[in-house]
Amino acid sequence: MTTDILLLGPPGAGKGTQARRLQDAYGFVQLSTGDMLRAAVKAGTEAGKAAKSVMEAGGLVSDDIVIAIVDERLDDEDTKNGVIFDGFPRTAAQAAALDEMLETKGRKLAQVVLLDVIDEDMVARISGRYTCGNCGEGYHDTSKQPKTADVCDHCGESQMTRRADDNAETVKARLVEYHNGTAPLIQYYEEKDILVKIDAMAPIDDVTTALSNLLGTTAEA
Ligand code: AP5
Repeated sequence: MTTDILLLGPPGAGKGTQARRLQDAYGFVQLSTGDMLRAAVKAGTEAGKAAKSVMEAGGLVSDDIVIAIVDERLDDEDTKNGVIFDGFPRTAAQAAALDEMLETKGRKLAQVVLLDVIDEDMVARISGRYTCGNCGEGYHDTSKQPKTADVCDHCGESQMTRRADDNAETVKARLVEYHNGTAPLIQYYEEKDILVKIDAMAPIDDVTTALSNLLGTTAEA
């Protein structure tokens, strides 16, 4: 049975940053619905057209669209060694759909990790964020700069980009969506006894160490 991991937390908690590191370290595949939706917007697909304005406003894209893209992605061969869900599920309906699709596909959610942060600090984190447009490695104006300005440490390319929704106003809307729609999933996964909380206000490397320790323990359990 394939076992999967889920990173839960508000915008800016470090889900993408940590998922990429776990992908490199353990061979999981990062499954980011935000990245998949941004790719759909760029490609101009029907899903992308429906998602574009919602994402720009910091709202939640409809459950139907998001569930369909995750369902399809989980059939890809490269997900068979396990995925790290990053940004999905975000609603009770998505969580229920995930349970159903995992069962149907012979997969299991081994651990849900809540990246615990202070909301007020997330606006600064996100406002300073930029990403390598070639490989997706994430950077920050103050907390994580590349060794050479504008050159990605990971792939060596110079294609840094900033997200359209990374402004203070939209981040505030995304935080509201998180608390209304997504935070109730903490209790949902607590009741399934698979939720663990990690202090994600710690430096990035310390969060990675905590996650690695946790997943090592999980793997042995
Ligand atoms: P999505 O792309 O998922 O964005 P998000 O959840 O708002 O999360 P972020 O990517 O902003 O934050 P992150 O936790 O990944 O932080 P990161 O590691 O980059 O979704 C975007 C939009 O798509 C949504 O608003 C919605 O419209 C739509 N969408 C996506 N999924 C959906 C779904 N399931 N249902 C409906 N709609 C959906 O880190 C942020 C910055 O902080 C970086 O610069 C990083 O270097 C820095 N940083 C990270 N960790 C630390 C640390 N420990 N200390 C200091 N700095 C740190």
